Amino acid sequence: MQERDWIFSKINQQNNWRKSCINLIASENVNSKWVENAYASDFSHRYAEGVPYERYYQGTRYIDEIEDKANKFFAKRFGGKYADTRPISGAVANMAAMRAFAAPGDVIASLSVPAGAHSSHQRGGVAGGILGLNPIKLGFDSKDFRIDPDLSSKIIRHTRPKLAIIGASLIPFPLELDGIVDACRDVNCKLIYDSAHVFGLIFAGKFQDPFKEGAEIITSSTHKTFPGPQGGIIIGNLEDEWREIQRSVFPRILSNHHLHRIPALLVAGYEMAEFGEEYSTQILKNAVALAEKLNELGFDVAGEARGFTKSHQVVVDVNEHGGGWNVAKALDKANIVLNKNLLPWDKISKATLVNPSGIRLGVQEMTRFGMKEDEMEEIANFISRIVIKGDSPDVVGQDVKTFRQGFQKIHYTWDD
Ligand SMILES: Cc1ncc(COP(=O)(O)O)c(C=O)c1O
Repeated sequence: MQERDWIFSKINQQNNWRKSCINLIASENVNSKWVENAYASDFSHRYAEGVPYERYYQGTRYIDEIEDKANKFFAKRFGGKYADTRPISGAVANMAAMRAFAAPGDVIASLSVPAGAHSSHQRGGVAGGILGLNPIKLGFDSKDFRIDPDLSSKIIRHTRPKLAIIGASLIPFPLELDGIVDACRDVNCKLIYDSAHVFGLIFAGKFQDPFKEGAEIITSSTHKTFPGPQGGIIIGNLEDEWREIQRSVFPRILSNHHLHRIPALLVAGYEMAEFGEEYSTQILKNAVALAEKLNELGFDVAGEARGFTKSHQVVVDVNEHGGGWNVAKALDKANIVLNKNLLPWDKISKATLVNPSGIRLGVQEMTRFGMKEDEMEEIANFISRIVIKGDSPDVVGQDVKTFRQGFQKIHYTWDD
């Protein structure tokens, strides 16, 4: 009994605490009631190895229908021919896509972590650490948050990678692919766009269109700007290679694929088809409003020359305030949750990994709770009270809780 009470009390504390926080973690979101209801079902106890209608198990008649529909829905929405909703996370989607096109020892191309790339694209992550690939870095214009097209094309032509995986966890601006598409084609290098952070914005037509710009595969998470259940997806156009991608997902990587995610993902897809444009438009406005106010209050907000941001993210260099780790910790005490981040101008070292120059702020979750530009200004003021003015975290934390009480209802979802 004691153990039971303990665990349920911890779950309640988490539920209540995060409902009273300003959450600015750029990789998180909340599910609507409809998505939550779809998530908790009998499917969470089941297996369905294989692809829809070609399973290694019985009892799959309904997941066959739902998964087939979800695959077709997301393929169509992103302008692809095929989709696979089985990857259980974005990193797993990347693993499966990379495994389909490259073998141990092969060179692949990606951006660096300070430039924003995810650990799964790196030597120490899935690419090198699990698949045994040999990632080389593409050129990146740090000040401007742009791929350096000339340098990157030269690197691709010279090293002839099997694939280039382009995408970022720090992504205030679209990553223009046009500068590297020709080089990739010339050396038969598959171009994968990892859209984890911006999947919802792309879904709504409010960010770049990776297939139109020359990507051949899209990989993603399904729970950042896209408010679905935690999971992953791969979308593709390459008829011959698609079976190879499917074989990578199963049997190479997964056995069960957490079936209950898939109906919930499709529910989130239907909601986004209805509300995604309005939601994403507000995300983009809110991110600019937050960036502008932080800048006005004296913060060193990155990307000023390009209008600060064209995504859900705001990137701030807080070196002069003690670095990303110290700032993130101080804000956490005041119920403002965000994370430290390496910035493109950071050199990787033990010290910068612990305490990098930056913090990364994402507005997608607070936007979903109905916040608009005025609230973004209030959030910037709360941050300034802690980081610049040095107000007491207890006092600011209480003000944050009171402010957040007014924003409890999830928007951009169906009414009851
Ligand atoms: C660009 C990028 N790719 C992949 C991932 C991994 O996604 P997941 O956490 O769903 O495995 C992330 C996670 O934040 C990411 O930012």
